[in-house]
Parts: sequence; structure tokens; C-alpha cells
Amino acid sequence: MESIDRILDRMTLEEKAALCTGASSWTTTPVERLGLPETICCDGPHGVRRVADIHSTGHEALPATCFPTASCTAATWDVALIRRMGEALAEECIALDSNILLGPGVNMKRSPLCGRNFEYFSEDPFLAGEMGASLIEGVQSRGVGTSLKHYAANNQEYQRFVIDARVDERTLREIYLAAFEKAVTRAQPWTVMCCYNRVNGRYGSEHFQLLTEILRDEWGFEGVVVSDWGAVHDRVEALQAGLDWEMPGPRPARVQAVVDAVRSGALEEYVLDASVRRMLALVQRGTHRPSAPDFDVDAHHALAAEIAAEGMVLLKNDGILPLAGQKRIAVIGRAAVQAHFQGGGSSHINPTRVAEPLAELRERLAGAELTYAEGYPADDAARPDLIDEALAAARAAEVALLYIALPTYKESEGYDRTDLDLTAQQVALIQAVSAAQPRTVVVLNNGAPVAMSAWIDGVAAVLEGYMMGQAGGSAIADILTGRVNPSGKLAETFPLAVEDTPAYINWPGEAGTVRYGEGLYIGYRYYDARRQPVLFPFGYGLSYTGFAYSNVRASAATFRDVDGVSVSVDITNTGARAGKEIVQVYVHDRAAEVARPEKELKGFAKVALEPGETRTVTIALDARAFSYWDARYRLWRAEPGEFDLLVGASSADIRGSVTVTLESTVDLPCVLSRSSTLREWLADRRGREAIAPFLAASEEARRQAFGEEGLGMNIMDMFIDMPVLSMLEFQMNALPEAPEAIVDRMLAQAHALP
Ligand code: BGC
Repeated sequence: MESIDRILDRMTLEEKAALCTGASSWTTTPVERLGLPETICCDGPHGVRRVADIHSTGHEALPATCFPTASCTAATWDVALIRRMGEALAEECIALDSNILLGPGVNMKRSPLCGRNFEYFSEDPFLAGEMGASLIEGVQSRGVGTSLKHYAANNQEYQRFVIDARVDERTLREIYLAAFEKAVTRAQPWTVMCCYNRVNGRYGSEHFQLLTEILRDEWGFEGVVVSDWGAVHDRVEALQAGLDWEMPGPRPARVQAVVDAVRSGALEEYVLDASVRRMLALVQRGTHRPSAPDFDVDAHHALAAEIAAEGMVLLKNDGILPLAGQKRIAVIGRAAVQAHFQGGGSSHINPTRVAEPLAELRERLAGAELTYAEGYPADDAARPDLIDEALAAARAAEVALLYIALPTYKESEGYDRTDLDLTAQQVALIQAVSAAQPRTVVVLNNGAPVAMSAWIDGVAAVLEGYMMGQAGGSAIADILTGRVNPSGKLAETFPLAVEDTPAYINWPGEAGTVRYGEGLYIGYRYYDARRQPVLFPFGYGLSYTGFAYSNVRASAATFRDVDGVSVSVDITNTGARAGKEIVQVYVHDRAAEVARPEKELKGFAKVALEPGETRTVTIALDARAFSYWDARYRLWRAEPGEFDLLVGASSADIRGSVTVTLESTVDLPCVLSRSSTLREWLADRRGREAIAPFLAASEEARRQAFGEEGLGMNIMDMFIDMPVLSMLEFQMNALPEAPEAIVDRMLAQAHALP
């Protein structure tokens, strides 16, 4: 294959500019003269939305497997499984002639109201990063590319094209960038898709700090930055910021703008060349893709069922599940026949087939009599007649299964939810049926948390089925009948009410700006800090068996940051069924220079256990697991000292812990300046030494003036957060020289110390 440099040398300016703009909604611009083919992308993330006529603006997509959406796949906490899903997606891309799958999305669930949460993994960046990286590894292992999206701080749909997300630096790094960082550094996606919105004043498409300084220079991203569809405002500025590929095309005026800018000198040609090189590498990668005429539809449907069964979360069970030989069963709710398995917008897949929940259940309960009642209409209309019909069915049965799907119009790309509620008809239905039939099981299909306080106490069991993909109907049947023991756990908190949620008073923003006022405290970080009760905590999920945790221990009591430490725990299946447990490790910093969340997820593992079996789970933690982003030093900082490693079955169910001591090998640079406070001087190793004589002298001066009693004053508390320069200015008369001179001398001394 011809080298990229040679091709670049032979390209005209017009060809270079054209290559950096799409030729259609889904293709790059081919350069036939040079033998450069088009590269084809298609939407994801949980299926291949390959538009049939790739060069038209039509939306009709070829049939492909609709896997569960990200809320559900994240709840599997199974990185190997999601990798397999990636491999299957790649096989479908190959069969459907696509080079790049536009996904995964690793934005944070800042609020459960975000309309696109079903496409995102979690409120926790560690979990989202692990899931995103694993999916990318799976897809790319088969020679197909991905697009990690939407970079960054695209956490709401309201005004998504223009809104300016105002996020402080530490929050951006620790919460909103961390999953992107993990996915980029571990899996090198072929492309990263920028967001529509602005981040601290700049559009994502024109954000030099995000696209170049952080993404490429710090994280080492080697691929192409593609715009979200229509996210570019100023093409030349976007190129200068590091955005290589504008989509969709064709946009002749944009191509011309780039050509003109180079000719006028407004854009240096080497900047364009850097993007062209990356585009050429992308096109070449696409030509290496294997080809295959089709994919295994049955095997992928079965894989979709397996993932759905692993990702559904059993939220409540008073013992009624799994079903045990009941002969008369009422199946209520239109979602039992009209499976609700995906959300609206660009991720909408044309499924190869759909498992109907009721039919799947019938197949597994051959000897039982199943009566179906619709329960509620597709919209939010009140239909007392449907409730009456459902009640009759429920009364005549030994158990009522309610299939409740949040209506399609409630959740979609493009707009946010305004509440967490099911429809009034659905709530009335659940209340009426469960009042008449205490053995009522609710199966939910939704992409994000719904409120349940109005009815949950009255029902016997709740299974969160999420947007479960095309095979979800069979997964529900497998779980209800006990063929599969549920093992999913929530990758997000289910709040009691929307008013309780972290972003509530800063949502969704106004006048083009949304302030991330809750800072680091989203999801369980917030509920932990506020000690606020929730409906179901992050990491929670039930099983048909039980698990005991014992013998939590660390590989070392004291460890160096560069070495890391690992934590082990023995997990025993205490019940009578085989099952899987998701073990979670959270880190709690006992003392820090900054405010830190109570605990943060830094490791997890899913372990399969036969009845009575015990296995040891070991999870490694590196320095990053103990670090926060220190905006003063602009680095990840693991402070020396004690940390608790909390091992739990959920964020609210910690089963054991061990305390370890971190020894820092990092010698922080001296960043003291004239405006540094006394606290900052004392926190700095060199500063402490340089200021010591001055502090001793001022203590002596106070002793002289006020005697020992004067020293009893809470002098430290008074001055600790005052710039040392200001402290000196207060005692100007007594000083032998100007305060600036004293501070400058101490600064020079501190900066010069080894
Ligand atoms: C969405 C992206 C999607 C793209 C192409 C945009 O509106 O935000 O997620 O990949 O369209 O359909």
C-alpha cells in the first residue's frame, strides 16, 4: 500500500479539503484519481443502522440485530460479554458493508431526565469507561472502527446544539472526561465524535483544549476526530482546534472555505495536512476490513438474549419469583405483545426479528393457562375499561404479571423527560391489580429510572427489563421462570423523586447555559454525601440465591503509588441455585487536602458460583484509583495516607473493608507564588522549609507582645487561608523591609530547594 506521505504529496489542496468533509450522510469523500475509496460509517451503538441507500438522505435501514441499549448492557457489569457484543456488531458491520460503527456513547448520566440516557452506560465514569473500552476492543478486534461519543459534557438533550455546559476543571476531569480517557488510552477508538454543545464557552467542535491538548497530547489519541452530525460552526476554526472530519456532507462551501483559508494564509497548510494524514490512515484501515456476505442472525439473536438476561435487574422479590408451577397466570400490559426494546433517534435499529414476551412465556409454561389483557393504551389516555378487564384477569389467576413499558414518546434522543413518572393509567393499573391480586409481578421496560413510590409497596416483585433489545422478551421469560438466575445490578441510582436528584436545581439551564453546580457529586456520590435515601442504590440487584462475603484483605498494608495494591475477598454462594455476583470495590480517602466523595467505584468483578461454592475475587488498584485531579498542579494526585478499600454488593451494601496506607513517590513541583496562602505554603514540602524561620519569628514576636496567653488565640485558623503577603501587610510597621521583598525572598528560597 502506498505510504500516506506519498499520497499526501500527490493531493491537490482541493482534494485535501474535500477529504476532510463527508461526501454524503455516511461516507467520506473518495479520491478516485488516487485510488482512495470511500469509508462508510453507520449508526450504533447497540446495533448496526446501515441505511439501505448510503448515498441518499433516506432513513430506511437494513435489518440488523438490535442488542440491548447501554443502560441494560452496563447493568451486566460483564466486560467479557460486552466485548463479545462488540465482535458481533463488527460482524454485522462487515456483512452490511460498513467500516465504522458510531458508538459507544460514554457520557455521564448527570440527571435521570436526559432523554438519551438509554444510550449511555452509567452515572459512574469508572464503570462507563470499562464498558466503553470493552465494546470498542470487541468491535475493533475484527477490523471495524468505532466512534467514541459525544465528547464531551453532552449530558442533556435540551438545547443540545447550543447549550454551554459550565463545568469546573476538577469535575470535568474526574467525572465527565474520565470514561473518555479510559476508552481512548486503553482501546484507541478509530474515531472520537465531538459533542454539539459548548463546554465552558466553546463549541465541542472548536475546542482546542479538548480536541488537541487533552485528547491527543495528553491521552495519545491517534485516530480521527469526527464532528457530530452538523456540529461544526466555523470549519476553519474547527480544523485548527483538531477536528479532522466534518459530517455529514456534501458541503461544497465548507470545502471552499478551507481552500480559501489556506490560500489567504489564515490556515497553515500543515494543520490541514495533519488532518489529511489521519483521514488517509482511516481510509486505509477501512480497506483492510475482511468481507463476508452475511452474519449469523440466529447466533446474534441468542447473544442479544444472553446479554439482556444478564443486564436485567431484579429490584424486588418477596419470594414469588421464580414462578413455581402456577397454572393460571394473568399477563397484563401491551408490552407483553408489543415488546418495547429500544429508544427513539439515531440509534433506532431495524431488528432482524423480535421476541414477543407473551409468546416466549407461553413456550416456557406449556402446562399453564395464560390470559392476556392489554391494560393500557400506547399513549397516555385514561382507559378505565382496560383496568376493569385486567382486574378480571388478575382475580381469576394465581399470579399477575404486569408488563409496563414507558411510552415511546417519553424517552428519545432530541429532548429530555420532564418527570420520572409512568403514565397515570399505568400507575392506576398497577395499584388496582396489586390491590386485587397480591401476587403481582411488575416487569418494566424503560431506558432510565422511573418513580415507583406510588405502587412498589403493593407488588410482590419488580424486574427492571430496561430497553432490552430485540431478544429481551425471551430474557424476561427466562428470568421469570427461573431458567436464568438474574444477575444484573444497577449502573445508576434510582431516586425516590425527581426533586431528590443531584442536578435538580441546575437543570436544564437557561439562556443558553447550564451550570454543573453539583460538581463532582452526581449519582451515588451525591446521595452518599447528603445521606439521602434512594429507591434503589447504584450497584444494587437481587438474585434467586444469596452470597456471603468474607475475608476482605489487601495485598499489602502499605504500598507505593507506583506499585498499586490489590484487594481480595472470598465470595460464597449460600443458596440452592447457581448464580452470579457482581463484587464492587470502592475507595474512601480518610483525609485529603480537598473535598472528596465519600467513596468511589474503582474496581468490580462478576463471578459465577455453584451452590455452596466459594471463590476468591481479587481486584487490582493502581495509583489512579486513589487520585483526584489537582487543578493547581494540573495532574492526577494520589496523596499519601490512609485509604479504606470498601468491598460491597452495592454502593449501599458494603460487606467488608480493609485500610491501606499509600506512600507517595511523586515529588510535586513547587507552584507557590506571591498570592499563595499560608495553607499552601505549609502543604508544600519546600514551602514549609522556607517559611519555617518566619513563622518561628512571628510566634516569638507574639509571645513578646502578649505573653503565653497570646499564643492561645486560634491564630492558625485566622490566618491559614490568607495569602502570606497579606499576613505580612497586616504587621507592616514591625517589619524591617517591604512585605513583597520578604515573600519574594522566601519564594526564591523555596523554588531553589532540591
Ligand atoms: C447524533 C449522533 C449520531 C449522528 C448520526 C447525531 O444527531 O447525536 O449520536 O451518531 O447523529 O446519526
